[in-house]
Amino acid sequence: MVERRRRVIGRSKRYKSNAAPREQRLPIDRYSERVRLSNVDPALEACWQVVCRSEEVTHQPRAFALLGRHWVLWRLGDGTVAAFLDQCPHRLAPLSLGTCDDAGTLRCSYHGWQFDGTGTCVDIPALGDAAHLPSRARLTAPHDVTESHGLVFMAIRPSRTPLPHVTVADDPSFQRGDLPVTTTTGAAGLFADNFLDVAHFPFVHAATFGAGEEHEVPTYTLERDGYTFSATYEHLFANREDPGVEAGLRPLVQRRALTYRYTAPFHMELEINYLDAGGTNVIGFFIAPADGDHVRIYSALWRNDLGGSPEAMAEAVAFEVAVLDEDLVIQNAYRDRSLPLDPTIEVHTKADRTTVELRRILSDLVSGR
Ligand code: FES
Ligand code: FE
Repeated sequence: MVERRRRVIGRSKRYKSNAAPREQRLPIDRYSERVRLSNVDPALEACWQVVCRSEEVTHQPRAFALLGRHWVLWRLGDGTVAAFLDQCPHRLAPLSLGTCDDAGTLRCSYHGWQFDGTGTCVDIPALGDAAHLPSRARLTAPHDVTESHGLVFMAIRPSRTPLPHVTVADDPSFQRGDLPVTTTTGAAGLFADNFLDVAHFPFVHAATFGAGEEHEVPTYTLERDGYTFSATYEHLFANREDPGVEAGLRPLVQRRALTYRYTAPFHMELEINYLDAGGTNVIGFFIAPADGDHVRIYSALWRNDLGGSPEAMAEAVAFEVAVLDEDLVIQNAYRDRSLPLDPTIEVHTKADRTTVELRRILSDLVSGR
C-alpha cells in the first residue's frame, strides 16, 4: 500500500504538463452572480426604472415586463397612471386581459372581480351585493410611479437613485424627436456601458459617423455625485455638415465638446456642443431591464440646430436608429447577459474611465453602499 502510494507520487513529479501557460488559459469564472449585474438583480428594485412611454398607457390595461415580472398599467379617470403586478389575487390570471370602466376601475376577465385605482377589490360578483370582501383581495403595487420626459418611471421599492433629468428638456429652443421603442436581447448594464463608451466609435460606427473619428480618446474629467456622474471632453473633428465650411467662414476641423451624464442604474444623456459652428444636440437613452435576457430602449433627441423642421428631425432620428443598429450587433451577440462588476474580470484602461465609473456606481448600489 505504502509502495503504491510512493509510485504515484514519483510519477506525478516526473509528469510534464502540456497545459497552456497560465496567462493563455481561459479564465475560470470564479465569480458568482453577485459580481455581475443581471437584468433582474434585486438591487434594481430600489431604483427608478423606465417602464414605457406615457402615450402607451391608455384607459385600458396593458402589460409591461420589468425586472423579470409583468406589471399592468392603465390610466385612471383623472389621468394618473395606475400600476400593479399583472396578477389577479384570486386565481393569478393576468389582469391585463381585463377591462376598465370610465372611472378606471379594472374588472378581471376571469371571474369579474373589480379593483379600483388603489388596488382595493370593490366587487366579487360570485358573492352578491352584500358580500364581505376578503382583505387579502388587493393588488400588489410598486412603491412609486411617476411620469417624466414623456416616460413612465416606476420604483418597486423606495428608490435609492434619483429620477433622471435631461437638462435641455424644458428649454423651448430645443425640438424633440423620439426613436421607435427598441425591444431586444441583451443586458441593460452592457447597453449602458456601450452608451458611455467613447472608444468604439471608429470601429462599430464606421458606416455612420465613426469613419473620421480619432482613435485616441482624449483625457477627460469626470465628476461623481452619489449615484450619478458627468464626464466632459473636448476634441477636434471634421465638421462636414457645416455649411460655413463651404462658405469659407470656418475651417473643416472644428472643436466639439461631449458631456455624458449618467444616473444609475440605466439612464443616460449625451450632450454634444459644436463650439465653432454652434448648436447643441442631446441624446437621451433610458433602458428598461425587461427580464433576464431582454431590454427595452427608450431614446429621444433634443436639438436646437434644426430650425424647428420636422423633416430634419425625422432625418436625425433615422440616423440615430442606424447608429443604434450598429451597436445592437455587438450587444445582441454577448452570451453572458450581465455586466461584470468585479474589476478583475475585464481589463480596463485610462480610456475607459466613464465605463469604470459605471461599474463602481452599480457595484455600490448592489452592495448597499
Ligand atoms: Fe381574477 Fe378570478 S382570477 S377574478
Ligand atoms: Fe455606439
